[in-house]
Amino acid sequence: MGLFERKPNRNPNSVPLFGVLLVVLLLTAIFLLEVDNLATQTKTIIGYNLKPTPWHEFPAKNFNNETKIARASKIIQCSYFSCGIRSSNVKYPYPFTGESNKSNRCPGFFRWIHHDLKPWSETRISYEHLMEVKKFASFRVVIIGGKLYVDYYYDCVQNRAMFTIWGFLQLLKRYPGRIPDVDMMFDCMDKPVVERNESVKPVPIFRYCTTPNHYDIPFPDWSFWGWPETNIGPWEEEFQSIKEGSQRQSWRKKYPYAYWKGNPDVVSPIREALLQCNDTVQWGALIMRQNWTQEALDGFKQSKLSTQCNHRYKIYAEGYAWSVSLKYILSCGCVPLIINPKYDDFFSRGLFPKKNYLPISPENICPSIKTAVEWGNAHPAQAEAIGKSVQRFMESLNIDRIYDYMYHLIVEYAKLLDFKPVRPTSALEECVDSLYCFADQNQTRFLARSATLPSQTPPCRLPGQANRQIDRMIEEKNKIIDSPQLLM
Ligand SMILES: *[C@@H]1O[C@H](CO)[C@@H](O)[C@H](O)[C@H]1NC(C)=O
Ligand SMILES: *[C@@H]1O[C@H](CO)[C@@H](O)[C@H](O)[C@H]1NC(C)=O
Ligand SMILES: *[C@@H]1O[C@H](CO)[C@@H](O)[C@H](O)[C@H]1NC(C)=O
Ligand SMILES: *[C@@H]1O[C@H](CO)[C@@H](O)[C@H](O)[C@H]1NC(C)=O
Ligand SMILES: *[C@@H]1O[C@H](CO)[C@@H](O)[C@H](O)[C@H]1NC(C)=O
Ligand SMILES: *[C@@H]1O[C@H](CO)[C@@H](O)[C@H](O)[C@H]1NC(C)=O
Repeated sequence: MGLFERKPNRNPNSVPLFGVLLVVLLLTAIFLLEVDNLATQTKTIIGYNLKPTPWHEFPAKNFNNETKIARASKIIQCSYFSCGIRSSNVKYPYPFTGESNKSNRCPGFFRWIHHDLKPWSETRISYEHLMEVKKFASFRVVIIGGKLYVDYYYDCVQNRAMFTIWGFLQLLKRYPGRIPDVDMMFDCMDKPVVERNESVKPVPIFRYCTTPNHYDIPFPDWSFWGWPETNIGPWEEEFQSIKEGSQRQSWRKKYPYAYWKGNPDVVSPIREALLQCNDTVQWGALIMRQNWTQEALDGFKQSKLSTQCNHRYKIYAEGYAWSVSLKYILSCGCVPLIINPKYDDFFSRGLFPKKNYLPISPENICPSIKTAVEWGNAHPAQAEAIGKSVQRFMESLNIDRIYDYMYHLIVEYAKLLDFKPVRPTSALEECVDSLYCFADQNQTRFLARSATLPSQTPPCRLPGQANRQIDRMIEEKNKIIDSPQLLM
C-alpha cells in the first residue's frame, strides 16, 4: 500500500496500472488455487485427506463442522509452518549426568526384541523389504538426524496416530542425539498380517500386537500416552492411581469372585461366551457391560480404573485382537484370570502362568473361572502372591522402561537396515508444535500430561540374545496352559 501511495499517480486510467492490477489479481487467484490444491492434498495426522485403512474399516472422520478456509489454513499452518525453525536438529548426544547404575538391566522380556528381529539377522532389511510391506502400513516413520518425518497412507481410528507419533517425539526428546536414522513401516490397526510360514518371505511391519505365528513386530500402543476417547490418562498416572485404589482394601477383604467390565459388542467370540458366566454363585463371576457412549455422556464416572480393583480376581478377555485393558487389569493386585490369548503385546510375553496369572481355557470359560476362583479362595496366600507379583511386574514397566523398549527396538532394527534412510518426498516433518497445532483442546490436555524431559541416565542395558531361553519359556508356558489340570 505505502509503495503505491508514494508514487505520483499521473494518470489513473493508464494501461500500465490496469495491467499491474490484472497481474496481481491473476497471481492471487493462482496462489489461492495452489493453496487450495496443497490443502486438499496434504495428508495429516488427524486424518485430513486420508481414507480409513481398507483392511480394518471404520467410519471416515468428517470435518464438516469446519469451513473450507479454516480447514485449509489449519492444514497449511500446522503441516508446513509449525516445525521449521524452532525444532532443533540435535547432532550430538547430550551427556548423561545422572549416576550410572550398574544393576540397571532391562526387564527380561526385552529379550524378545532379538526374537522379533531375528528373521532379518542374516538377510538384513532392504529398501525392497519396506516397499513390499508398504501395502500393510498406515504410515511410515522416518527419523533422520533426530528429526521425525511421517508419510501418511491411511487414517487411523480415533486418536491413535496422534498419540503414537507423540510417543516417538517424546522418545526423541528423552534421548536427544541418540536415536539412529531409521525407516519404519507402521500399522495402527489391530490385527497382525505377516504370517510366519515357510512359503512367506518375512517383511518387517510395526504394530501394537503380534502372535507366535506372525512376523509383525510389537510396539507400545498409543494408550501409554493417553486415550482421550475413554478418558484414560497416560500410563504413569493411571498405574499410580490404580495401585492406590487397589490398596484401599487388603486382598482378603475384596469380593471373593471374579470381575470383568468391558465392551462385549466388539467382534469377539470369547467376550460373547463370557457373558454366559455372569453368576457369582454358580460360576464365581460378575460380568459388566461397558457402554462407552453412555460413559462419555456421564463424564466417565463409572469407568474410573482405580475403582475397579475391588474383586479378588479380574478377568482378561481379548477383544477384536489384543486389548489395551490388560495393563490396567494386571495393575490391580488382584489375581488375573487370563482367557488364553491369541495375541501378544510387547510386554505380555514376559508374563508366566501360575506365577503372574491363572490361565483360563477358552473352550471352557465358565467352569474354568469357577475352578480358578475356588482354588484361590482355598489357597489365599498363594493367590494373593500371584496378584502381588504381577503388580510388581507392572510397576517395573514404568514409562522410563517403555521409552527404553522403544529405544532398544529402534536401535537394533536400525542396525539391520542395509540402506541409508532418506526423507520420502511426500513425508512431512512432525514435531511437538505441529501436534499441538492439530490437537483440539482435549487432545492438547492429554498430550501435555505425558510430555517428557531428556533423561539424565542411560537406557537400561539390553539383555543379550537368548533364543534358546525364549524357546524354553514358550515350551514351559504351553505345557502349563495345555495341561488338563490347571491348578494343583
Ligand atoms: C470438528 O470435528 C472434528 C472431528 O469430529 C473434531 O476433531 C474437531 O475438533 C471439530 N472442530 C470444531 C471446530 O468443533
Ligand atoms: C540401581 O537400580 C536398582 C534397580 O533398578 C535400584 O534398586 C537401585 O536403587 C539403583 N541404584 C542407584 C544408585 O540408583
Ligand atoms: C503357508 O502359506 C501357503 C500359501 O499362502 C498356504 O497354502 C499354507 O497352508 C501355509 N502354511 C502354513 C503352515 O500355514
Ligand atoms: C450380570 O449380572 C449383574 C447382577 O446380576 C447385572 O447387574 C449385570 O447387568 C449383568 N451383566 C450383563 C452383561 O448382563
Ligand atoms: C449405549 O448408550 C447409548 C446412549 O445412552 C445408547 O444410545 C446405546 O443404545 C447404548 N448401547 C448399548 C449396546 O446398550
Ligand atoms: C472434550 O471433552 C469434554 C469432556 O470429556 C467433552 O464434553 C467435549 O465434547 C470434548 N471436546 C471435544 C472437542 O472433543
